[in-house]
Amino acid sequence: MKATIDGRECEIRAVWFEDGRVRMIDQRQLPARIVIVDFDDHLDIAEAIRNMTTRGAPSIGATAAYGMCMAALNGCDLERAASDLKAARPTANDLFYAVDHMVEALGDGADPVEAADGYAQMMVDKCTMIGEYGAELISDGMRIMTHCNAGALATVDVGTALAPMRRAWAQGKRFFVYASETRPRLQGMQLTAWELNQEGIDHAIIPDGASAYYMSQGVDMIITGADRIAENGDFANKIGTFDKAIVAKHLGIPFYVAAPVSTFDFDTGTGEDIVIEQRSEEEVTMVGDTRIAPVGSKALNPAFDVTPAELVTAFITEMGILRPDEIHRVRQ
Ligand code: MRU
Repeated sequence: MKATIDGRECEIRAVWFEDGRVRMIDQRQLPARIVIVDFDDHLDIAEAIRNMTTRGAPSIGATAAYGMCMAALNGCDLERAASDLKAARPTANDLFYAVDHMVEALGDGADPVEAADGYAQMMVDKCTMIGEYGAELISDGMRIMTHCNAGALATVDVGTALAPMRRAWAQGKRFFVYASETRPRLQGMQLTAWELNQEGIDHAIIPDGASAYYMSQGVDMIITGADRIAENGDFANKIGTFDKAIVAKHLGIPFYVAAPVSTFDFDTGTGEDIVIEQRSEEEVTMVGDTRIAPVGSKALNPAFDVTPAELVTAFITEMGILRPDEIHRVRQ
């Protein structure tokens, strides 16, 4: 992805390996500043996933792959490291997929750095294909809505939901993006809008509660990412996704979900079986060190919701665009 660091435009990934350590953008600091943080211990990498230094399903997966790489380089017990990393966050399938991928590769004697770099590159390649397929759905003048951040930051590079937009813009198509702010962690406002700015893509941030209003005024399609897609096509994504899908169905707006095969979980039958992460009350009640909610009020903070397959027009994958009843084709 493009980023301007110390006044210079450069290309950067969300996470990578360099000089014996794992490096990543501290996404909690964006858009105010680009801070790169370094790790040489897999337990610290697990903590970086938990505290959302890095986030977004494919980036969580790649970060965990680098965590396994670090554990192998440090001579740690790999079975223990795998369970430490898998415990970091419960919902994104990519975390489990990536750790299992690395356990197998390391068990087969692969070089740890080559295996983790290979995993990260595989994600970027998949996202590039998602961009190619998804761009065909976008035409000049469209108004597209997205939620949370399913861009390069969330996927090592390129993005899932943002990949078709990046590709279509590069093809010369001109369209407008509504990025909903995504309370309480503001990934839409702070991360998606930052990425769209870097790419020069025309957009506006909207409050989450304004989504239905703008859809009623004219939105041509919605594209979101996913954290886990069950066998029947129900999927978990950032809290607030389900609301948008219901309104989209009501208004006849196509609703697309962009995700690589690593996000599909054919061992989970339906959305009811997906574990939804509950995060801290403070993410809702505090801004920085200041409490903005009345003392004495509780807050609830589910990080994800589940959207039923019947509300999904199609999944945009690296293997093509599939209706919910066609997703068995990506089963590996
Ligand atoms: O809590 P987050 O920021 O990790 O949640 C991210 C999302 O919900 C994204 O939409 C999803 O991971 C898809 S990322 C390509």
